[in-house]
This record gives sequence, C-alpha cells and structure tokens, in this order.
Amino acid sequence: MIHLENAVFAWPNDDAVIRMNDFSVGRGEKVFLKGRSGSGKTTLLSLISGIQTLQSGFLEVRGEELKKMPPHKRDVFRGDHVGYIFQQFNLIPWLSIEDNILSPLLFSKIKRKREKGNHRERVIELLEDLSLQIDIRKPARNLSIGQQQRVAVARALMGNPELIIADEPTSALDEDRRKDFMDLLFGECEKRSSTLLVVSHDSLLASQFERIEDLNDLNGVEHV
Ligand SMILES: Nc1ncnc2c1ncn2[C@@H]1O[C@H](COP(=O)(O)OP(=O)(O)O)[C@@H](O)[C@H]1O
Ligand SMILES: [Mg+2]
Repeated sequence: MIHLENAVFAWPNDDAVIRMNDFSVGRGEKVFLKGRSGSGKTTLLSLISGIQTLQSGFLEVRGEELKKMPPHKRDVFRGDHVGYIFQQFNLIPWLSIEDNILSPLLFSKIKRKREKGNHRERVIELLEDLSLQIDIRKPARNLSIGQQQRVAVARALMGNPELIIADEPTSALDEDRRKDFMDLLFGECEKRSSTLLVVSHDSLLASQFERIEDLNDLNGVEHV
C-alpha cells in the first residue's frame, strides 16, 4: 500500500525533515508509527497522502508514484483512496453531523460508488458501529471532543477507502478514553481490511498493533 525509498523532504529554507531509506506498509497491515513532537510525523503523512511531494526519492501509494501525478490528480487520488483523521478532527462546524460524515462522497466518484444505497442509513449504521447515539441533523459544532472524534472516524471510513491515516488521533482525549478509542479505530479497520497508519508520540496507544515503528529509527535526520 505504501512504499518509500531514499525519500528526502525539506520544508522551504530548512534542513531535510524526512530522510528515509526504506519504509513499506502492506495492504491490510496496521502500523503504529511513534515519534516525538517535531520529528516529522505530520510531514510524512502529508507526503503519503499526496499533499506534499518528495524533493528526491521514491514514494508509491497503492502502486502509484505520487510525484508523477499532477497536483489535481493527487487530490483525486487522496479523495478516492484515503480516509484521513486529523489531529484536530477538522469537522465543518456549521454543517450537520450527517453532511460532515457524507462529505468525502462529494469529492470522490469511487467512494460514492462504494456506498450504493441509502446514504442516511449508512451514516446511522456507521455511528452505531462507533457507539455514538446522536441526532445527525444537528450541526457538528455542538459535539463534545469525544463525539467529534468519532464523527471524524465515521467520515474517514465513509466510502471504505483502502488506507486510513490518523494523525495523533487521541491527543484531544482524556487519558482513560484514549485506549478505548484506539480499540475502536483498530476494530473498524480490521473489519474492513483497511490498511491503517497511526502516528503518535504516545506509544501507550500501540498495544493492539502487530507492527510498531519508531520514526527516529526510520528517519536518518538528526534531531536536536
Ligand atoms: N507547513 C510547514 N512549513 C514549514 N515547516 C514546517 C511545516 N510543517 C512542519 N514544519 C516543520 O517540520 C518539522 C516537523 O514537523 P511535523 O511534521 O509537524 O512534526 P510532528 O508531526 O512529528 O510533530 C518541524 O520542525 C516543523 O517546524
Ligand atoms: Mg504532528
């Protein structure tokens, strides 16, 4: 699903933040990538999801080399194949919960095709899976942090993308709820055989993962 070789990326006017010789994630694999704050986790995810591109080296996602695609193709690619859970969830506050969860379908023909049938029923089903009982017609702004997080997961799962990416998905949660949440996310990806890549500084969240990697070992950049 992800294959990266001799990858180098630097933000403008800065030293390389990513310098990775080899990193691969197989289809259906679930990987926990740990790394301290500022070590380049979010940057790496923005490369894998095609928001940024490498300065040099090779990065293939789902068999396609991202650097070779024009930017709009990369946007379509991300919309079609990736479900992204942002650190701050990035729900649209004035939209209803239902419209937030359905929003990935607006940008992807493939996701629309995969969600044949009644979309409202699908939203309700997803929220039941996530043990969230809420009125989906209400705006997302009224949700608690824990609810926002589950809605963000439902949105990422909508359209069944092959790759689910989560950037520090528990950072806004109380400690005792973090593990429950990770179990939930892991279980949902397991059910769908999705590939899951979670990055976090908190290795306590990694308990379920068959594969745990440390960005400091993978990344040849010296961190101060
Ligand atoms: N949009 C950006 N522009 C310039 N520098 C950035 C940008 N995003 C991140 N950086 C820099 O890249 C480094 C890694 O950041 P980041 O990938 O956010 O790390 P992490 O997610 O592990 O905390 C930091 O030094 C940060 O300042
Ligand atoms: Mg980050």
